[in-house]
Amino acid sequence: MLKNENYNKQLLIGLIITVVLLASFSFIMAMENARLVEATEHHAKESLQHGRALFVENCASCHGSRGEGGVGPALNDKTLLEEASNGVLFATIQTGRPNTTMPAWGQSYGGALTDEDIHAVVDYIREYEENAPDNLAEDFVPSASRGASLFSSTCFTCHGEDGKGGEDSVAPAINNVSRLKQNDNEWYEQTIINGHPSEGMPIWGEVLSNNQIEDLLALFEAWRAGEEVIAATSVSQMLDSALFALEEGNKGDALFYLERAEPIAFGPLLSEIDSTTKLIDAGTSAEALSSLEELRNNWPMGDAETGEPLYQTTCSGCHGAEGQGSVGPKLQPSTFLQESTNAEVFAFTLVGREGTAMRGFEDVLSEEELANIISFLRTWQE
Ligand code: HEC
Ligand code: HEC
Ligand code: HEC
Repeated sequence: MLKNENYNKQLLIGLIITVVLLASFSFIMAMENARLVEATEHHAKESLQHGRALFVENCASCHGSRGEGGVGPALNDKTLLEEASNGVLFATIQTGRPNTTMPAWGQSYGGALTDEDIHAVVDYIREYEENAPDNLAEDFVPSASRGASLFSSTCFTCHGEDGKGGEDSVAPAINNVSRLKQNDNEWYEQTIINGHPSEGMPIWGEVLSNNQIEDLLALFEAWRAGEEVIAATSVSQMLDSALFALEEGNKGDALFYLERAEPIAFGPLLSEIDSTTKLIDAGTSAEALSSLEELRNNWPMGDAETGEPLYQTTCSGCHGAEGQGSVGPKLQPSTFLQESTNAEVFAFTLVGREGTAMRGFEDVLSEEELANIISFLRTWQE
């Protein structure tokens, strides 16, 4: 009995010592944790400030000063931020987006930012998420012909023209109906996203946008149905080619290009394509040539009323709501516009003026949208 009592006492003392030790240990741990949390918070705050400064300097011109979007898409967007992990944002910023004006920022890709800089920018963008509006949820319609123009700039080097492979092609043909029928879109999507790096097929998931991948799938879908897909092009380009051909005396090619222009043409000049085609067909060469020249110079013409709101959202920030000018020169009226044909104004707005804030609008506005804006600007020149 006595033995047992002694044992209880020791147990009690041991227990007290343990409790005291544990309590002081947790106290020290808590202090240490608080110190660590504070240090981390301090670091995060500094990194966030660094990220914001980098964003203002490098990204705001295209993505808006609060990431609300401009010539580049909105980055303060709920859908985007929910779907894109930090790793995806990092990779996009590091490598840029081929075929768009989104440049590569990573130093290993010729850009100006270190990995640490990019992490800071990503953290800054991530801060938008909590209060982000959902404005990316706009309708997106995949386009096989946009897919074809992406394919012909990014994939054809390995997969051959029109995806048909080639004699010394390093990669298999994709435009092969029986092969396309063996696999569904899901398989193609995963193959594009993940690549087969060990077999020489690059990983595209971090380089291409979801929309670009959907355009490619639309292209494969059309190929699967045995359709021939023509890469997205503009009426302007077709008219240029037609004029060149006719000047060289090649009627056949000129007609070929006009035939391609017709289904994508729009606006008040649509009927001119038809009448010019008839003149070339009839063989009245001088008349046909001047008709084609006039068409080429006046193209594109759109609808001024539709152009006004487009001007207000896309151009007025720099040229003023009334065309009075601010960052950009005055456009109401403008000697430049008065002295230039529609073809010249179109070519100018497409590429912009290098080294100035006037960037090109090639991948922001369609040919028809730009035509509408130009027609609206014409109403200011009267
Ligand atoms: C010259 C204009 C321009 C600049 C400067 C620019 N971007 Fe972009 N950015 C774009 C365009 C255009 C796109 C859309 C590309 C596309 O169509 O997929 C884009 C896309 C992105 C995307 C992907 C968005 C999405 O919806 O998938 C991210 C992220 C991004 N940019 C971040 C940045 C960051 C960060 C910077 C600065 C370090 C920056 N951009 C600077 C034009 C620009
Ligand atoms: C650097 C060369 C290269 C480029 C560029 C390339 N690929 Fe590939 N691709 C390959 C190779 C090699 C394979 C075969 C891999 C294998 O053997 O598994 C392949 C396979 C594929 C396959 C599977 C074909 C099949 O039937 O098995 C698809 C789909 C594909 N690529 C799509 C694309 C798309 C879309 C692009 C452009 C965005 C592209 N590739 C760009 C090299 C390339
Ligand atoms: C980010 C600012 C900015 C935006 C947005 C912008 N511009 Fe400009 N634009 C300029 C600047 C700056 C110039 C002058 C470039 C120079 O110094 O040569 C200019 C020049 C022009 C000119 C030539 C005027 C002249 O007298 O030389 C035209 C035409 C024009 N812009 C049309 C447009 C249209 C149309 C849009 C919308 C689709 C647009 N701009 C959007 C900044 C902008």
